[in-house]
This record gives sequence, structure tokens and C-alpha cells, in this order.
Amino acid sequence: MNINEIKQVMVVGAGTMGHSIAQVYAQSGFDVDIVDLKQELLNKALNKIRLNLNLLADYQRVPSDEIDSILSRIHLSTNLKVAAKRADYVVEVVSENREIKREVYSQLDEYCSSKIIFASNTSELNIFKLVDINNPERLVIQHWFRPAHIIPLVEIVAGRKTTPEVVDLSYNMLKKLGKTPIILKKFTNAFIVNKIQQAMNSAIFGLLLKGIATPEEIDLAVKTSFSLRLPVVGVVQNLDFVGLDVISDVLKNMGLELSIIKERVDQGHYGVKTSKGLFDYSGRSEEEILRKKDEKYLKILKFLEELDIFEPV
Ligand SMILES: NC(=O)c1ccc[n+]([C@@H]2O[C@H](COP(=O)([O-])OP(=O)(O)OC[C@H]3O[C@@H](n4cnc5c(N)ncnc54)[C@H](O)[C@@H]3O)[C@@H](O)[C@H]2O)c1
Repeated sequence: MNINEIKQVMVVGAGTMGHSIAQVYAQSGFDVDIVDLKQELLNKALNKIRLNLNLLADYQRVPSDEIDSILSRIHLSTNLKVAAKRADYVVEVVSENREIKREVYSQLDEYCSSKIIFASNTSELNIFKLVDINNPERLVIQHWFRPAHIIPLVEIVAGRKTTPEVVDLSYNMLKKLGKTPIILKKFTNAFIVNKIQQAMNSAIFGLLLKGIATPEEIDLAVKTSFSLRLPVVGVVQNLDFVGLDVISDVLKNMGLELSIIKERVDQGHYGVKTSKGLFDYSGRSEEEILRKKDEKYLKILKFLEELDIFEPV
């Protein structure tokens, strides 16, 4: 299927994620059917979309004179069968419940044309093993982040049977929506971001459980430290700033070895201090790289201080 042939998108599930994902498709010019079980859920979803669009317009993310036409492209339905028949592309955003997912896919399989892509927003289910559909090569995970109309990232995960064409089309579609898609090399539980968040949560629960710090203190610690660095050096490039030789020693002390780091260290690539580490700094000096980074930190710090961001919301 060619992306230009896709005009009508069906979003199944109008909850926390569904309404917002549907909105993004409508903002990009697609006609969207949002399907849910009850009309009142759909009405609530449409109202949220209207509020979202107004807020986006306040922040110049959407021209306010386009809001009516965006809304006019969204249709509400409690009839999956009717919406499925006219869908060129399906986005599944129903509850994270095995039985519900299975049931919905069996209906999609029955009602949709066999070439239609099914994009699942599941957060943690191995949808490829869970559901039984004809033409499983068209099933792909597109995992969005809340609020979907603001957060750029969408993780794309293919199953063993998903074709490269479906992955390519997913990527191009998400680019067209103005998103930042990342294709995972293979399925893994919780994907990239939730996996990292899970590790953080486990540390947070441990701190709280042992009474090491209060909730306010933990958040203040995070907000005034690595949350400032994250937008600039991420979580991986930060290792280049620490120094891969140091990281390698830390790993050794833990009885661990990571080949990607060992290889770099063996070759004398320690990160910023040698102008090459996990990232390549193209021969720039350590001083130059540090200055570039620190200028960004200072701009972010000023911005955050102005917003009084260190206080809880
Ligand atoms: N909430 C998040 O932050 C988040 C983030 C990323 C991914 N997800 C994933 O997105 C999916 C939806 O999550 P959510 O938070 O929007 O859930 P939600 O409970 O807010 O919404 C799910 C919607 O699906 C509807 N639904 C249930 N069965 C249906 C059916 N047979 N036909 C049509 N609609 C049906 C429900 O009525 C509900 O409105 C889940 O797979 C979840 O894991 C959630």
C-alpha cells in the first residue's frame, strides 16, 4: 500500500491515548473515524480534542482558523463494522487488556480489507503472539507517548512476520504526522522508553520504601540534576562525557562487560576527551564540545528558572 492511498483512518479506542492520536491524524489532513463502545465516551473525546486544539493554537502550534476544519475531519462512531469497511489504515488504541485486544483484532480481521495496516499502540503486550489474524504481515506496533499530540516520539516495533514495507510505511506515515519515529531492531518488553522508566521506577520505589528521601526531595534532586542534562546529552551520550574508560571500570567493578564500550576503550576512544566515544565528535577539541554543551545547559537553566519549574506542578 502507498501512503498517498491512505485517506481514511480508523482509530479504535477514544480514551487517554486514542482521542489524542486521532487528533494528530486529523491535524495532518486525514479523515478520521474514532470508534468506541459508547457515544458518551466519544463525545468526551471530541471535547478533549477541541480543548487540545485551542491550547495548541494559543501556543502557535495550530492556526486557530484551521480548528474547525480539523474537527470536521473527525467522525465519531460506535459501529466498528461500518467504520472498518471504509478504513484505509487502522490505529488500535483499546484498553491494555488481552481479551479486549483479541476480540477487537478478530473483528478488525473480519471487517477490514486484507491489505489494511493495523497499528497497535500497546505498551507492553506482545501483540504479535497475542492476536490471531489473517495477513499478520500487516500488524505493527506504533507506540505513542502521552499526550500524543505534544510528545514527538513514536516507537515502531515489527513482529517476525511484519513486512519491511509495513515498517517503512509506518515510518513515513509518522514522519508525515510530524512525529519522531524510531524503529526498534526487534520486539522487547516495554520497548525503549518504558524500559528506562521501569528501571527508574524501581529505583524510586526503593528510595521511598527505605525512607531515604521524601517524594518532594526525590523530584527536586532529579529536576535540579539530570533532568537538566537529559535534553542535551540524553542518557547515552552522557557516558561520553563521563568517560568510557571510567564507565568501563564501573562495569568491571559490577562484574559486567559491554562489548560496545570495551571495543571503544580498547581503541583509545574514551569519549569527549579523545573526540570519539560512543558518538563521533569529528575531531573537535574537548574544550569546544564542553562549551557547546554548557551553553545549552545554561540556556535551559535560565528558561527553567524563569518558569519556576523546580516547584511541584
Ligand atoms: N495511557 C498511556 O499513557 C499510554 C501510553 C502509551 C500507550 N498506551 C496504550 O494505549 C492503549 C490505550 O490506552 P489508554 O490509556 O488510552 O486506555 P483508556 O482506558 O483510556 O482507553 C481505552 C479505550 O478503549 C475503549 N474500548 C475498549 N474496548 C473497546 C472495543 N471493543 N471497541 C472500541 N473501543 C473499545 C474503551 O472504552 C476506552 O475508551 C493501551 O494499549 C495502552 O497500553 C497508553
